[in-house]
Amino acid sequence: MRDKDDTIKAFYNSCRHRGAPLTDKTKGKVEALICPYHKWSYDLKGNLLSANGLSPEKRQHCKGNTNLIEITSSISNNMIFINLSENHEPLESYLGEYIDAIAKPHQIHKMRCIHSREYVLNSNWKLYVEVDMETLHTPCIHRDSIGKQPVEILEGDGNWVGVFHRNIFSPALKPNLRGSGFPFTEGIYGEALNGTHFCIILPGFFIVTAQDCMWWIQKTPISENQVQVNVGYCFPEETLKHPDFNTISQLYIERWNQVIEEDDWITEYQQKGLNNNVSGVYTEKEKVVQHLDNIIVAKVLGLPESDWLLRSTNE
Ligand code: FES
Ligand SMILES: [Fe+2]
Repeated sequence: MRDKDDTIKAFYNSCRHRGAPLTDKTKGKVEALICPYHKWSYDLKGNLLSANGLSPEKRQHCKGNTNLIEITSSISNNMIFINLSENHEPLESYLGEYIDAIAKPHQIHKMRCIHSREYVLNSNWKLYVEVDMETLHTPCIHRDSIGKQPVEILEGDGNWVGVFHRNIFSPALKPNLRGSGFPFTEGIYGEALNGTHFCIILPGFFIVTAQDCMWWIQKTPISENQVQVNVGYCFPEETLKHPDFNTISQLYIERWNQVIEEDDWITEYQQKGLNNNVSGVYTEKEKVVQHLDNIIVAKVLGLPESDWLLRSTNE
């Protein structure tokens, strides 16, 4: 919720009466949140305004315990992060060098989302994180939409894993259209001028920053073999004013949609073969996938960070 004074707060979407969701919308404007069940209402800071059926005495008695339950949220480069974990490490230190090495050079704070959507896939969330970060499958699955896309592995402190694709023309267009895209984002600098960063902000926020645009694919696990996917496409604010914005942006959207459909398909397909408990091997070209998987295993087992870094290089 963004309040009138511009403060941002995140809450669990559960009424403090008997728990119904306060809304099923993902965006919109309201003066107050009103629960559809018995019409308890809350202001944009989560404070209880009215409580149908609750006597003044009982309300007094429950004081403070009837406001919405807030979730930690923080902003970095105009992106809002919601932290559902018990770990209350400040966002800046969680993101570490991602901010100076990638977010700022690519001018992420200027990106404006022009399209987003949400859907469910029948695959484990990790399969999608893996497919985001490997290029071995690219010529197999994305032959016409991407083609070959060599990458270099990035190093840097913080809870992210990334690769860099050195390119002259943005890879956000299909190979036969490269060079006919928008001008580069004003003010980009450093390596952001020379190519595209593909990163996972752990555990499942895939964010790609190219010289002219940005896109993300956020994965939220639902169960062992279902994941909710949220996709967003962004351009820098000055690009939205380009005289041919509608025509040119359509070329990006078609390419993004196609690549994402191809990855949706292959992750659901892969999932079907994973129920037989067979083991496999990583190739040398999947070092980042292996690294990610090592991090996940280590976090699940509670191994110290030094341990998983060692495992990543040795195994
Ligand atoms: S559950 Fe929300 S008002 Fe009753
Ligand atoms: Fe892919």
